[in-house]
Parts: sequence; structure tokens; C-alpha cells
Amino acid sequence: MNPIIINEEKCIGCELCAKDCPSSYLYIENGKAHTKTGGCLECGHCYAICPQGAIRLLNYDCKDEAAVPMTELPSDTLLAAMKSRRTVRQFTDQAVEPEKIQKILEAGRYSPTGGNSQNVSYTILGSRQNEAEAICIDLFRKGTSLPRRSKAFAERFNITDNFFFKGAPLVILVSSRSLVDGGLASSYMELMAESLGLGVLYSGFFVMCTRISRKLRKLIRLPKGHKVVTCMVIGYPAVKYHRIVPRKPLQSRTL
Ligand SMILES: Cc1cc2nc3c(=O)[nH]c(=O)nc-3n(C[C@H](O)[C@H](O)[C@H](O)COP(=O)(O)O)c2cc1C
Repeated sequence: MNPIIINEEKCIGCELCAKDCPSSYLYIENGKAHTKTGGCLECGHCYAICPQGAIRLLNYDCKDEAAVPMTELPSDTLLAAMKSRRTVRQFTDQAVEPEKIQKILEAGRYSPTGGNSQNVSYTILGSRQNEAEAICIDLFRKGTSLPRRSKAFAERFNITDNFFFKGAPLVILVSSRSLVDGGLASSYMELMAESLGLGVLYSGFFVMCTRISRKLRKLIRLPKGHKVVTCMVIGYPAVKYHRIVPRKPLQSRTL
């Protein structure tokens, strides 16, 4: 079924949709937009760019939400806030409100994906959070199946009962077939969480455990073909950072 619906009465043949389509799916004939067959990414560029509101996407709920340009956010403030972001490893007991969780997930949903696959999924550990953490703690305390470097790390540290999730109230696993798509979604979510007053820890150790433990994979039940890309540990920070940390010199070059 053709995923693009064009309202011929509204279309003025301005060609903006055809020029902006990344897969050349649209063309203009007799002053109106038309579609070819196959190859549409359903990215919605034609829908977004049409000045007449003449295009809709068959498989999506098109709500006519007005676009808000990023320029509405002062770039100096945005950059300073991005530089001030810190990994948080100390959390209060305060639960994260459902509306805030929804906003974080929505930020992930709107991140770019290769070929517009939108194949990133979000698993809130919820009632299984303690069970999942207990499996990881057991793995780290035994140490037998860990890669060499992590084994050395695990031996150096006291693996407390909340070593992985630090007592945070919310853990979201971001999974995908694509590490890039999952990583980009996570980054969007992290910035949203910070703007809501929350702190985030990426638990790479938890991700490692999902690669090692079949029991853990069974518990989290990922969509087919998905791997956990990030484990986002989220809650209200019990700490405040007063300064932007220094960084290594920028590695940048122009060829
Ligand atoms: C992919 C990834 C995995 C991480 N895994 C862990 C982890 O398992 N435990 C931890 O304490 N910190 C983890 N971190 C946090 C990093 O140690 C942290 O980003 C780094 O020290 C820089 O600190 P900053 O985020 O405050 O700038 C992880 C970060 C990333 C991006």
C-alpha cells in the first residue's frame, strides 16, 4: 500500500516535497505531486515541508504539530548545559514521575535512525530491577565468566548490593539491532532527563552482563535481533556539581 497520501485539491505543485525526498519517491506532473512505487522511507519530510498541509502518512497518526526550531534554545546556554552534564552515581529515593518517564522515552523515539528504521526499543526494568541487579552482582562476585579487564576491576572493588544501579529508582534498557541508533536515542534521552532535573548513569557493566548471562537475557526479553546498547540508570541526583570539568584537547582537523 502506498504510504503517502496526497490531497490533490490542496497540492499546488510547488515541488518542495519532491526536492526534499531522500529516496526520490515523489515527483510533480501536471502541477501536482505524485508518488512512485517502492522505496519510501516514511521519514515524513514531505509531510513536514508541505506548505499546504496536502500530504499525510498512511501508517502514522499525523497530528499537525507545529515544528519548533532548535534556534529557540540559546546555543550558548545549550552548550554550557551540555558541558555541565555529569554522570550521576548518587541518587535520592525519590521516584521518577510517570510524565517525566514518558518525556524521556519520547525524546528517544524522536532520535534519528539509519534508514528511518525506528527500530529502537525501551525496556523499563520496573518490578524486575532487583532481580536483574542480583544476577549481575552474582556474576561480578564470582568473576569467572568476566572478560579479563573487568575481572581485575571486579576484584579491586567492593561489589555492594547496589553496585550496578546505585539505588536509583528507574532503569531503562535501550536496545536495537544498531549500536549507532541505540546510542543516539540514549543521548537524546539523557539530555531530556537532565533537563527534567534528573541524573543519569550509563551502566556499561550491566550491558556487559547481558552479553554474558543467558539468565539475564531471558529476564529482560528483548525484541528479536536486539542487543542492549545502553543501560540508563536514572533518578534524582543526591549530589550537585559546581564546575564544568576540563577535557583533553579537541582532536579535530580539516582535510
Ligand atoms: C557507554 C558508557 C558506559 C559506562 N559505564 C559505566 C559503568 O558501568 N559504571 C560507571 O560507574 N560509569 C560508567 N560510565 C560513565 C563514565 O565513566 C563517565 O562518562 C566518564 O567517567 C566521564 O564522566 P562524565 O560522564 O561525568 O563526564 C559509562 C559511560 C558510558 C558512555
